[in-house]
Amino acid sequence: MELLLISSLLLCSFLFLIFFFRYSRFSPRRLRLPPGNLGLPFVGESLQIISAYKTENPEPFIDERVNRYGSLFTTHVFGEPTVFSTDPDANRFILQNEGKLFESSYPSSISNLLGKHSLLLMKGNLHKKLHSLTMSFANSSIIRDNLLSDIDRLVRLNLDSWSDDRVFLQDEAKKITFELTVKQLMSFDPGEWSENLRKEYLLLIEGFFSVPLPFFFTTYGRAIKARKKVAEALRSVVRERRKDDEECSSSSRKKKDMLEALLEEECGLSDEEIIDFMLALLVAGYETTSTIMTLAVKFLTETPLALAQLKEEHEKITTKKHYSGALQWNDYKSLPFTQCVINETLRVANIISGVFRRTTSDVTVKGFTIPKGWKVFASFRAVHLHQDHYKEARTFNPWRWQSNNSASSSSSSIGNSNLFTPFGGGPRLCPGYELSRVEISVFLHHLVTRFS
Ligand code: HEM
Repeated sequence: MELLLISSLLLCSFLFLIFFFRYSRFSPRRLRLPPGNLGLPFVGESLQIISAYKTENPEPFIDERVNRYGSLFTTHVFGEPTVFSTDPDANRFILQNEGKLFESSYPSSISNLLGKHSLLLMKGNLHKKLHSLTMSFANSSIIRDNLLSDIDRLVRLNLDSWSDDRVFLQDEAKKITFELTVKQLMSFDPGEWSENLRKEYLLLIEGFFSVPLPFFFTTYGRAIKARKKVAEALRSVVRERRKDDEECSSSSRKKKDMLEALLEEECGLSDEEIIDFMLALLVAGYETTSTIMTLAVKFLTETPLALAQLKEEHEKITTKKHYSGALQWNDYKSLPFTQCVINETLRVANIISGVFRRTTSDVTVKGFTIPKGWKVFASFRAVHLHQDHYKEARTFNPWRWQSNNSASSSSSSIGNSNLFTPFGGGPRLCPGYELSRVEISVFLHHLVTRFS
């Protein structure tokens, strides 16, 4: 009995110390941390955030805290205290100071799935080099001269295969973006190999939106297993290509894709580095773009006036003399309303709701101090959906992106790059920002001109 009492006392003191430590560090007066709530010991508020994002309306998780604490608040998610920023200026400060006051830092559950050599997690000079290499494979002139014809061909090929019966748009959109990224990365046309790889990707990506328990029967466990299979498939491709390159020394016969550029990178990347890089690039370009394609169609269906205007814009192209059935670069450049629809879909429904960073020293933001080593989440979604920045912020209104439109913003201009950051910013600005717009535009073009 006595032993039980002593053990209970020890346990209570231990728990008290944990609470004292956590909450005394958290005292806004001592450290001037943003106010907030660290939730339950160890789990913090992780369950609340995961369950919110599993529903159709995840907004209340952030809304409630912003109402209670303000635009910067502290919480505890994915095993660590984390400061959430929903302030556009603070977000810009976080993005621009990447590599100085902040560094990219995703929860280990995410980095285990991506791989430590993925661009999203890479740091320093190698990051700079590979970020600009990725940019050079997705910039406007490469898209115009090389990628656009492949994008157009692959989109039409997919739409041709649609049956009269029923089409699951999100599945089809995912297929299209996956095939496009595989083509861009390693020059493979769609076939059994890419379809099998895609099935593993579906499992892998589910892992990002699950509780990270690595057992074989959990979603996360299945995602880890799928990752291994994907890495194995990519390893064979890398080895095969290295062998081909050794056998054919002539550079004119080598493929001009991203894999080739990675193999020729002067710093000499290992197979593992190349595999992680490619695996993560497929994740980055696939789910994001296909979701925007799908949701653009959903919003257009719910907004018939916008659909009619979009159709009219695209039908104008099909009646032009030069029109051959494929969308050309000049046509793409003459689609202002399509860009409004894409912007508005990105604003309302981007699945990248923000980015994680870690402070590299004590950082002062908006009068608060975030201690060194703390996690920060810059929430773009919270800015995009706040009525202080956009009138009727939660309504899909593509016309707000037209110049001179009063629905653009209540406090500042719509073009304000601090406000609209679906592709992030600073040194980690998404290298696929133009490519994804082109993919979505081509998809919408063929969809609205061929289907009702
Ligand atoms: C609608 C489509 C897309 C959205 C909304 C999107 C969004 C983003 C965002 C917000 C980031 C910044 C992450 C951070 O700062 O931590 C990012 C990074 C990245 N994106 Fe995209 N992306 C899209 C399409 C693509 C495509 C098509 C590609 C393929 C080339 C791509 C490749 C990447 C890569 C490699 C990074 C990591 C950059 C780095 O850390 O240096 N994305 N993306």
